[in-house]
Order: sequence, then structure tokens, then C-alpha cells
Amino acid sequence: MAVPFFDIQYNLDPATKKSLLGRWERILNHGGFVNGPEVRELEAALAEFLEVPHVVCCSNGSDALVLALRASGVGPGDEVLVPAFTFFASAGAVSRCGATPVFVDVDPATFLIDGADAAAKVTAKTKAVMAVHLYGLPVDVPALELLVNQAAGRKIAVVEDAAQAIGAAHPAGIVGAMGSAAGWSCFPTKNLGAPGDAGFASSASAEVAEHMRRLREHGGGRQYYHDEVGYNFRMDSLQAAGLLEFLPRLVEFNGIRNNSAAHYHALFSAAGLVGKFLQLPALTPGHVFHQYVIRATRRDELMTFLRARDIGCAVYYPLALHLQPCFANLGGQPGQLPHSEAATADVLALPIYPGVSYAGREELVAAVVAFYRGD
Ligand SMILES: Cc1ncc(COP(=O)(O)O)c(C=O)c1O
Repeated sequence: MAVPFFDIQYNLDPATKKSLLGRWERILNHGGFVNGPEVRELEAALAEFLEVPHVVCCSNGSDALVLALRASGVGPGDEVLVPAFTFFASAGAVSRCGATPVFVDVDPATFLIDGADAAAKVTAKTKAVMAVHLYGLPVDVPALELLVNQAAGRKIAVVEDAAQAIGAAHPAGIVGAMGSAAGWSCFPTKNLGAPGDAGFASSASAEVAEHMRRLREHGGGRQYYHDEVGYNFRMDSLQAAGLLEFLPRLVEFNGIRNNSAAHYHALFSAAGLVGKFLQLPALTPGHVFHQYVIRATRRDELMTFLRARDIGCAVYYPLALHLQPCFANLGGQPGQLPHSEAATADVLALPIYPGVSYAGREELVAAVVAFYRGD
């Protein structure tokens, strides 16, 4: 049986498709294609769902991070602490603001930013730290903030990269409202995925949110008058309608993802591979599994073995950010961030989207067992 890594059809049953086409037809009729009424409705719906005071919808998650950074005061000459093991956009957004990413190692147990390493890298130029809630596991933002503020002797802004964490929870606060601002992605493969590119920014501060709203539309408070240079980061109404259609089932689908994670956990544990060949992600309360990422001995061979059997898997991420060619001018060298580099060598994401069947997970684990037995 083929076990795809991802298939969007899980979210497009006939009733959903029909309802979505109805929404799209209404947009064709009213003609407000960009930042239309659906976008405002979505901002309200997301703010209510996430329990964050302010949501600003925009073009995609990468642009949402640019909004969040700029509205947190980041600009040319500033440094921003960024984990080296994350999707490129976490650091790309910093460079796009004219600032410099300073790469920080991750905690090998969680893959989240190592607060002590972040504190050690604070300089007089540090303006912000990026808390990436990787794979859907939230960072303890207040604890991180305390460490970097103590090291700096002043306030450092925390910007949350919540691209992978919609629906996640942390006892220390509300994801997307713990830092000064947050960026979220609605890329189609995300837990709340649009039928195209989309994203949004959030903040607990009305002032920061208002700034992000202005930056989204070329930095102007009034049409054709510009206080600063912003962007065209508006959202299409067609995407907003898609997200309004999909939002009501997000909790159900996040629950299915977490049940799948628990199932993998039980199957791998019973197979006796854990500790010997594999390490599994902890089942932490509040984590919504955007990705289910194991650490595997002989990872690349295992990936080839699984793919040859039509079992999907993927590597998020194969090269740490301090070693990316585009950041060579920053002087990153192999060996500088050992936990990030080790992760790139052995992480393997397994299918966790809500369409993976029970039998599919059993088949996948049986194939992993066969690989390590040498079958
Ligand atoms: C951690 C992280 N940050 C930022 C982004 C950027 O989001 P988008 O692809 O919507 O621009 C992503 C999307 O893959 C991501 O996973």
C-alpha cells in the first residue's frame, strides 16, 4: 500500500468543495478580490480561535515574519538571534528587514532555540530573538525573554515564528501573543492550509498590529500618503474564503494528527527500535504535530528504502542556516552549532497529515523494522 507523505484531498470532501465554490462565487459577484470582506471576517475568526487580540492577514508566512520583525523595531544595523535549525524564512525575513541573523544552536531534545546559547550571543546590536515553534512544539517565550533580557540588561523583543504551530498551546501564555508579534503560515501543507499562498501576523499590542497593517499596504495610514516604505503584502479574498471554510475543522484535524503521533509512538516503542536506532519526539501536552520527526540511524538509507516502497518521508531540514551559501558572509563554519548540525544529519519526518490511515502507519513502522533487521 502506498503511504503518501501528504495529500490535500483529506480536506476537500465533496461537501467542503461545494461550500468553498459557493464562497468563491460570492467573491466573483462582489468583486472585492484583494483584502475584501472575507479577509476581515477571517481576521476576526482567527483572533477568536487563537485567543490573540489582533490578527493581520497577509500574503504568506514569510511576509508575516517581515511584518512582525519590522513592527517590533527591527531594521538595518540590528542583529536578531535566530535558531540555526528551522525553515529558511525564519532567517530570510531578518535579512529582508536589512538586519543580520545571528545563529543560535537548538536544544537536541526539542529542536527549539537554546536559551542559554541565545543569551551568550547577545551583543549591543541585538534587537530581537526569534522563537520558532518548530514542528508545532511551542517555545517557552517568557523564559527565553528573561534569559536574553538579563544578558542584554535591557528589553529584547521576542518575535514568534508560529508558522507551524496553529492550535498549539503553552502554559506560559498564548502562542502568537507571548512575544511582541508573531508570523503564521497558511501554505497548503500547513495544519490550516489555504488553497494557495497565505499567512497572517498577530500581536497582543494594538499599536504593533496597527503598524503591521500599515506596513502591509505600503506603509501608509491614508491611501496615497506614506509615512514609511512598506510592502504589498495583502491577502487575496479567495484565500481568505478558503481559510474560513477550513478553520472549523482545524481542531478535529489537529486531534487526528496528535492521535497519529501517539500511534507511531506506541508502534515504534513496541518494535524495540527506540534508543537503539531511533529517537522519537516526546508527546508533550500543547504540541500540535505539524510534523512528526524522528531521529534515525542511517537516515538517508532509510529514506531511500521507504521511498522505494512508496512510503513518503522527508527531511526538514538538511542544511543548518549558518552553513547556507547565502549567509557565507556571516562566517558560519561547520562545528559551530553542533546540535543543529547533528539534527540535519538524522531527522526524518514521517507522514502525519490527517489522511494517513491506521494501516498506513502500521505499514510504515513494519518497513522501518524490516530496514533495521536488514530484510
Ligand atoms: C518555520 C517556518 N517559518 C516560516 C515559514 C514561511 O511560510 P510561507 O511558506 O507561508 O511563506 C514556514 C513555511 O514553511 C515555516 O515552516
